Parts: sequence; structure tokens; C-alpha cells
Amino acid sequence: MTDVVDAMQAMDLRGQTHKYSKIYDRVPIEKVLQTPSERAIGSTVVVGGWVKTGREAEKGTLLFLALNDGSGPGNLQVIVRDDVYALGDLKNTGTSVVVEGELRAPPESAKGQAIEMHATKILMCGKCDGATYPIAKKKQTLEFLREKIHFRPRTNTIASVARVRSALAYATHTFFNQNGFLYVHTPCITQSDCEGAGEMFQVTTMLSEAEKAESVQPTVKPEELDAKRTEVSECGSGIKAMKESGAESKDVKKAVKKLDKLKQELSEMERAARKIGGIQRAEDGTIDYSDDFFGGKSYLTVSGQLQVETYACALSNVYTFGPTFRAENSNTTRHLAEFWMIEPELAFADLNDDMQCAEDYVKFCCNYLLENCYGDLEFFAKMYDSTCIDRVKEIASTPFGRVSYTEAIELLEKAVADGKKFTYPVSWGIDLATEHERWLAEEHFKKPVIVYNYPKDIKAFYMRLNEDNKTVAAMDVLVPKVGELIGGSQREERLDVLERRMAECDLVPEDYSWYLDLRRFGTVTHSGFGLGFERLILLCTGMENIRDVIPYPRWPNNCIS
Ligand code: 4AD
Ligand code: MG
Repeated sequence: MTDVVDAMQAMDLRGQTHKYSKIYDRVPIEKVLQTPSERAIGSTVVVGGWVKTGREAEKGTLLFLALNDGSGPGNLQVIVRDDVYALGDLKNTGTSVVVEGELRAPPESAKGQAIEMHATKILMCGKCDGATYPIAKKKQTLEFLREKIHFRPRTNTIASVARVRSALAYATHTFFNQNGFLYVHTPCITQSDCEGAGEMFQVTTMLSEAEKAESVQPTVKPEELDAKRTEVSECGSGIKAMKESGAESKDVKKAVKKLDKLKQELSEMERAARKIGGIQRAEDGTIDYSDDFFGGKSYLTVSGQLQVETYACALSNVYTFGPTFRAENSNTTRHLAEFWMIEPELAFADLNDDMQCAEDYVKFCCNYLLENCYGDLEFFAKMYDSTCIDRVKEIASTPFGRVSYTEAIELLEKAVADGKKFTYPVSWGIDLATEHERWLAEEHFKKPVIVYNYPKDIKAFYMRLNEDNKTVAAMDVLVPKVGELIGGSQREERLDVLERRMAECDLVPEDYSWYLDLRRFGTVTHSGFGLGFERLILLCTGMENIRDVIPYPRWPNNCIS
């Protein structure tokens, strides 16, 4: 924000028109509000926006509009006299207008605002009927707004979330760029299951092909198949007889050629007979994907990690930041079926380096918000979570706790012994539940805590096995309000150990041969993690439900727009 103020002081407000809004020479409202009033007062500028509220005064001859264009959380108060524009049209919430007006100091009695605009010209862009506009006036619940997803960005809450989200994405790229990481785009569609949790959405064109199929019955009838089989067997017997009777070899060769052709035809007919309901089956009855779009069973990615590792094992420090998909049937406030993940991967780096990178990155994001989105944080503190600014400040400035999984279990067991009630029982070997994670972060450490060295049986195959043979070099960053924010690990760089772990996890090594090649050819100690972007937004804003911090949330039975 200081940047903006400095720029303002150096420049006349009219010089602040939006570079790509020359059509109106429009100044973003946030710039008007951020300009010290002594500089702004007296200027005539143009703004554009949507009416938040409109209030008539002085017997309908005057209108007070609160105007917002999304450039910041603040509204500009615009005063319109009825000799400038017919007021009736203007006051409805949602109306879009371009206004030219003079900036003036508000009367002493107008609390909380430093400047107001007196309209000299109004351009009505789009009327908005208050009777039918779904989000007119009164405060709507977040649940209701999820059903009006296309109008949601016009609310203060979702607009603030959008600005925070954009700022955190920018902070992410800035942090990794400043620290020498290369941005790599990993694919959305893959045939590898990174997490091995069986939560992948399948990508196929076979179903739409099946729908188009003219008949659900196989195109080959059983009697046609029998006839072809008889033909093949008779041809085979004929060749046998020819050989026994000492027939000429050129005749035998001719007959063998015919037999091959018949066998080929039979095999094609048998395959056609296994196309049931338009879906091709293999001989063992399983679905045959060889005719599918990618020639094999394919999915939306659950993580870009495996692919980004190939770049780390060549370019050292890389990260991917993109959408990931999980078909887990979770209806919680912390899970989405489509969410965004930031996944750095560091070569020549162990678990400690990984933990330090995760901590520095989260701190950087918090600092970035404090410097660039303070107004939005104030909005969240006022409307949703009074502790949110303090939390962001504290995370930015206090070292994270660190504790091994074994120690974390001991702490939880002690809490239970002291009377703490959890829904899920605690013992060494359990996957920590959100209630355990939040107790550690919120009640015990009272700040983010990194839990490391988890039991191998609850973690993915690629994590490096520790010397105790029981735990892996994994780490999760647990934070107040959310629980797990980050999951990461040092990767298993030893080929033989990795192959053993894959066998234990019932994975087929051939499916991962390209991944194993990284260990066969120039293997290196390397580590990485994944941060759930929406969970970072929950942490920073204090919003309760992950469905409200992504523009188009997807969860079971919800995929509209
Ligand atoms: O712990 P996870 O499953 O780790 C991985 O996917 C690794 N491959 C990352 C890596 O090492 N490169 O997921 C990472 C993070 C979680 O800590 C959580 O914040 C978020 O992704 N996450 C979800 N966020 C929203 N909805 C879901 N269904 C999520 N599942 C995981
Ligand atoms: Mg995890």
C-alpha cells in the first residue's frame, strides 16, 4: 500500500487512470480512496462500478450511492442530484454506472470517509431490477451464494477472497522466483497414481462412444462365431491331413496362409463379441482400454509431484502450481474435489531443507498479505474471524514448532490421560485426524507445527525409509484453524528400497518405470512438498468453508457452471 501512496503523492490523480480503460479514462476506486485527501480534493475524475447501496435523501432530489469496482474493499460515496440524472434508475443494488464527478471533503458529520464524489455526469451501463436481482441488498448466507455462483463475486466477501487469492498466487510465484526455483507445468491428465490412494477421476471417451453405439448387443452373433470356429478347426485338420499324405509344400504353405487369415478373422470376431453395451471387454472380462483415447486407463492428476521430480532431477529447484483432482467422497469444510496445489521439489536437499523451505514460503505469503491486502484482512477480521490479522502476523514472525510423529503421539496420549476427549482414539500408527492436528497446532503449540517421521504404513510409497525401518522422512505442516496445510517428504532415492516399498504398496513397477529411471540414472537426494492453496486462504482469512475460497467449488453432486 505504501507504493500506491508514494505514487499518488508524486502524481496527479488524473494520471492514475487505468491504462486499459481509456474508453472512459477511468480511475480505479481504490486509487481514489488511497490518495491523501488534500491531493484528491478538487479533482474531477471518472470512476466506474456497481452500486452497492443507493439511498435517497432530501425528498428524492439527492441520491447517495456506495460504488465499488472491485479494486479494493472500500466503496466510494457518490452524491447525485436529480438535475444530473433521473435518480429512480440508479439506486438499485447491482446497477452498473460510469460516473464523472468532483472529489470533495465530506461534511464533518460523515464519519469514516475521507472523500466523496459529487457527480457531474452519469453514464448508465446496465440497470438492475431490485425485485428480481438475486443478491439485492440484504446480507445473504454463504450457502445461498454458492447457489448463485455467477453473482458471488459481487459480494464483499467473495470479492475480498478473490483479491487475497490473487495476491497469494502472486506471492507464491514471487517467493519461488526469488529463491531460484523454476516454474514447471505438470500435466492434468496422467496414467500414474501419485498418492496410491485410489481417489482418481478417470478420463475416458469410451462412455460417450458407447452412448453413440448403434446397438448395445455385440455386433457378432454367437452362431456366426461358432461357424467361424468350425471353419478354423476344419482348415487346421485339413493341413494336418495334407502333411500326413505328403502333399506338396507349396500347397501346404497356401493352406497355412489361409488358416492364419481365418484365425485373424476369428480373433477379431471374438473381440467384437466381447463389446457389450458398447464397452470393449478383455478376455478375462475386465474393461479393455486399448481403444480408449489414450490407449490405456487415464486419470486427472492427484498431484504433479512425480512429473515435477523429473525436472528437479535435471534443474535442481523447481515447482508446479496447478489444479489437482481427488474423487474422495468428502463433504467436509476442508476438502474439494478440485483444488490447487503448489508443489516445490528440491534436489540436493533433505527433509530439514524441505521443512525450512515450507516454513519460509508460508511466512512470505503472510507478510505479503500484510503488506498488500491489509484492507481485505481487516474486512475478514471484522466480519468473520477477529483473530485473523493477529494470526497472520504471528505466523509471519514466529518460528514454527517441530516435533516427531512419535513425540506428537505422546503429547496426544498425555492430553487424553489428562481428560481431553477426541472422537478418534490415539495410538502410535494412526493417521492423525483433523481433531488431533488442530489440537496440536491450536491448543498445544498455539502456532504452526511441523510433524515429521511418520509411520511408513500410513504414507505414500515414494517417501524415504528411515533407518528404523518403521518410519519415513515425511513431514506435515499443521496450522491453527485448518489442520494439515502441507504434506511433504524426502524422496526415496535408492532404487532397491523404492522397488521394495512399491511391492509392499501393491504397485506394479512397470507402471512407474519412467519414475524408477530417475533412480537408475543419476539419482540424487531430493525432497518436496505440496501446499493446499485453498487451505492457505482459509488460514489467512479465517473463512470457515473451503467452498467459499475457490471461484467454482466442486464437491460430490456439485459441478454446476
Ligand atoms: O498431503 P498430500 O496428499 O500430498 C501430496 O499430494 C504430495 N504429492 C505433495 C508433494 O509432496 N509434492 O496433499 C498436499 C496438500 C495437503 O496437505 C492439503 O493441504 C491439500 O494438499 N489437500 C487438499 N485440499 C483440498 N481438498 C482436498 N481434497 C485436498 N487433499 C489434499
Ligand atoms: Mg497429506
